[in-house]
Amino acid sequence: MSLADRYLAIRDRWLSSPRFQRWAAAFPLTRGTARTRARALFDLCAGFVYSQILFACVRLHLFDLLAVGPLTAPDIAEALRLPLDSTERLLEAAVSLKLVDARSGSRFGLGALGAAMVGNGAVKAMVEHHPLFYADMTDPVRLLRREGRATELGRYWAYAESAEPAALPSAAVADYTSLMGRSLPLVADEILDAYPLHKHRCLLDVGGGDGSFLMAAGRRCPDLQLVLMDLPAVASCAERRFAEAGLQSRARAVGGNFHDDELPHIADVISLVRVVHDHDDAAVIRLLRAAHRALPDHGVLLIAEPMKQASGAAPVGAAYFGFYLLAMGSGRARSAAELEALLVTAGFGSIQSLATRQPLQSGLVVATKRPQQVFH
Ligand SMILES: C[S@@+](CC[C@H](N)C(=O)[O-])C[C@H]1O[C@@H](n2cnc3c(N)ncnc32)[C@H](O)[C@@H]1O
Repeated sequence: MSLADRYLAIRDRWLSSPRFQRWAAAFPLTRGTARTRARALFDLCAGFVYSQILFACVRLHLFDLLAVGPLTAPDIAEALRLPLDSTERLLEAAVSLKLVDARSGSRFGLGALGAAMVGNGAVKAMVEHHPLFYADMTDPVRLLRREGRATELGRYWAYAESAEPAALPSAAVADYTSLMGRSLPLVADEILDAYPLHKHRCLLDVGGGDGSFLMAAGRRCPDLQLVLMDLPAVASCAERRFAEAGLQSRARAVGGNFHDDELPHIADVISLVRVVHDHDDAAVIRLLRAAHRALPDHGVLLIAEPMKQASGAAPVGAAYFGFYLLAMGSGRARSAAELEALLVTAGFGSIQSLATRQPLQSGLVVATKRPQQVFH
């Protein structure tokens, strides 16, 4: 046993002893740490309640109401059509979670976290679809054992378990496509700030959803040609949006199944935004190889998604997406290093992990297609 193992074994024995816990909570030098740890553990026990309180605030449009200005509890009760005592209970809970603030004159205004929700359609959209994930998480052990029963998230992300994703009708893809479009602002700026696209001629966004990422890229780089590839029903939705935005001359959408079909050989930069984590390793390697074939020499591939071990955001990749993708039925969250290993297997070189401002929202890995060596 190493020295570190021996130290950790002793630490675990002490921390799990009720006598030590009582002593540490009373002793002045350990009291602070003991309280912080007890609070962290309580937060883990109660996290699902906090999430549901946030969900109630979003469902009732409480933040939009308070964005206009602070109100008294009876005014809020009337606007939310809730009994006064329920409103007071909700407000008290929301104040404790920094979603709402108590203001002068018995009024309530936005709290620091509630204010951040206002105008943030991306986070609201994520919260609103959480009942599906919440239902699947009712029995996490069943999920871990992969026991039977279809999941809510598996049904929602219809391609995850479909044998023929290219045949999915628009009704099956509409909800997730809308959610992705609404939540894209969370990641688009992160990617485009970390990797400006000005030096490129044509961007192919694979699994590009309703085209929101391409439109954001196009706004920043007016000369960039934009091509999207997604399942036929999703590509038609993107095509419609390009037409509505008057982008027909520089943007187009191609329908297909990237597991089977060749990617268009057209772009000098390809992006995979929140796509790779949806798929298992074997499918990802096939997709990365297809991207490698589709790129010219020195062409660039961008992979952007929330990653495991992201600085200051470890639970987002490992816990949230770890279980989200388990419930969805395919894929896994990966660290930048794991993505790099898959890119090397697919033939890419010069692989770099670029810093984004909010690693919680997205990490970014950039890889280049090295010129083929020609032997004479
Ligand atoms: C999680 S969404 C991400 C959408 C978009 N990139 C974004 O970040 O908003 C994954 C996308 O991959 C597409 N997709 C999944 N499987 C596919 C397949 N076999 N062929 C083509 N597209 C696929 C889905 O239709 C969906 O639009």
